[in-house]
Amino acid sequence: MCGIIGILGNEPAAPRLIEALRRLEYRGYDSAGIAALSATGALERVRAPGKLKNLEAELETTPLQGTQGIGHTRWATHGSPTVGNAHPHVSGKVAVVHNGIIENFRDLRQMLEGKGHKFETQTDTETIAHLIAANMQEGMSEVEAVKAGLSKLEGAFALAFLFEDKPDLMIGARKGSPLAIGVGDGEMYLGSDALAVAPFTNRVIYLEEGDWCVLHRESYEIFDAKGHPVERPVTIVQGAGAAAEKGNYRHFMQKEIFEQPDSTARTIGAYLNVLNQTVTLPEENGEAIDWKEITSLQMVACGTAHYATRVAEYWFEQVAGIPVKTDIASEFRYRDPALPRTGGLAIFVSQSGETADTLAALRYCKAQGLKTAAVVNVPTSTIAREADLVLPTLAGPEIGVASTKAFTAQLSALAAVAISAGRAREMLSRDAEIRLVRALTELPRLISTTLALDERIEALARDIAKATDVIYLGRGVHYPIALEGALKLKEISYIHAEGYASGELKHGPIALIDEETPVVFVAPFDGLFDKSLSNLQEVAARRGEVILISDEAGLRAAGEAPAHRIELPDCDPFIAPILYSVPVQLLAYHVAVEKGTDVDQPRNLAKSVTVE
Ligand code: AGP
Repeated sequence: MCGIIGILGNEPAAPRLIEALRRLEYRGYDSAGIAALSATGALERVRAPGKLKNLEAELETTPLQGTQGIGHTRWATHGSPTVGNAHPHVSGKVAVVHNGIIENFRDLRQMLEGKGHKFETQTDTETIAHLIAANMQEGMSEVEAVKAGLSKLEGAFALAFLFEDKPDLMIGARKGSPLAIGVGDGEMYLGSDALAVAPFTNRVIYLEEGDWCVLHRESYEIFDAKGHPVERPVTIVQGAGAAAEKGNYRHFMQKEIFEQPDSTARTIGAYLNVLNQTVTLPEENGEAIDWKEITSLQMVACGTAHYATRVAEYWFEQVAGIPVKTDIASEFRYRDPALPRTGGLAIFVSQSGETADTLAALRYCKAQGLKTAAVVNVPTSTIAREADLVLPTLAGPEIGVASTKAFTAQLSALAAVAISAGRAREMLSRDAEIRLVRALTELPRLISTTLALDERIEALARDIAKATDVIYLGRGVHYPIALEGALKLKEISYIHAEGYASGELKHGPIALIDEETPVVFVAPFDGLFDKSLSNLQEVAARRGEVILISDEAGLRAAGEAPAHRIELPDCDPFIAPILYSVPVQLLAYHVAVEKGTDVDQPRNLAKSVTVE
């Protein structure tokens, strides 16, 4: 995923573009660049490989003038992350920045080369610049050239165009990748999301799929995919700016881990009626689910969001008696799943709401006639727009590339939905519902208590940071938390880590155990603890370094076997997997800090993968 910004302003554009790109850098950071119009209307461009600070250094030596410009921060899809492949791309009088993938760019490139266009890069985006320039060379105006060019593009794009000698014109387009207009006072902006334009305005217009727009400082026009003028609502976005600040924290990830008492409370509050201890799904976001009609549930997501569905699988089966199938999105639709003709519900979980694999799976299920619901953190996202029902998480913008508060918010929402389903299907007694609602209500306080373990976990992290391989083990509903703990560690500390079902250890992975291999057990003192304890003793007997994350009873039962102990507060087993996510997040965070890796923007990653 990349980040794009455009400014038609009345102040120097370069520093404002950089400020916006700093807020977009979580979307990708392989290279960055900006283009602006000089006082004479000439298109000028400065680009740099790597992080935004490299572009800022370039601008020190090559300042850009002008009050209008476009900018881009890149997660490389086509072409290596060199300065030559960095956006903006230019052809003739056209400069463009792009988030997405043009699937037919090779055919277009061949056609344009046949017209004499000379290409400098390996990117799909450069083709767009040449295509619009070619249309203008045939006598089209800028607007006509873009309109005609868009109809030739296949794939996903969010685009911002700037034109030489046109200081009061910027054109944007959206298909498959998000794009918003920021409405200023005598200024106009384009951004990948509200965060990008937050420094300039809180008045945001989210373009719909297929929309394109023509901006001037004092006015804008929006057109739909067929070229018909359309109106889109102006949304007042509150607080987007604050989310882009770390406050007193060293990293966004740290801030977001510590925000979890609030983010889970907000999310739970959207689903629970604490007064009468019931769950009320936020059905104003679409068609209500008739749970009695549901015969099977398919859940699809990627990465951490997939692990949230793996936890929810236990809840929906145990609490609501619904057969559940979970899949990672990139595998799901290619395995020709045998989906039910009636009674099928598909739930898609996505923090960004823009993950291409998850979106493709949603579209596949809709085409198969399933009812669809989306657990998303961005209500204006593409997945939110296309699902029949939105089940929001209220985690607030998550900037750290490694997902933390979004994960516990996803689990909180899914837990509430499972309770609602259980009641509607008369699988859950009123007393049981009250117990589960109370358990969820206690979660934010228990997370606060668990966050007090931060220093203890930081001390442990200094030891784990020396390892080259770490194993995470969990049973039952904590098996997905072991998987999530391993993902957190590897994606931000770059230490190889694997999550396994504890019972699976002796079927092979135990061969990995030696005194160099820390083994993290995620195991509250629940009905499966004795089994986990046997696995723990098998590891200790082979001199593996055991870290046990448990509660007081579990640590007492484990005796001297664990080399390290993390004691969590007692909690209802129903919410335990959500609570036990926090120590594995903190462990990964502190190991990464110890290793000196880039916690908020780990190498090779981007916040949301909007390409398949
Ligand atoms: C989470 O730590 C990862 N960065 C990644 O696995 C992420 O969860 C995955 O890409 C899904 O993103 P989404 O929730 O925005 O769809």
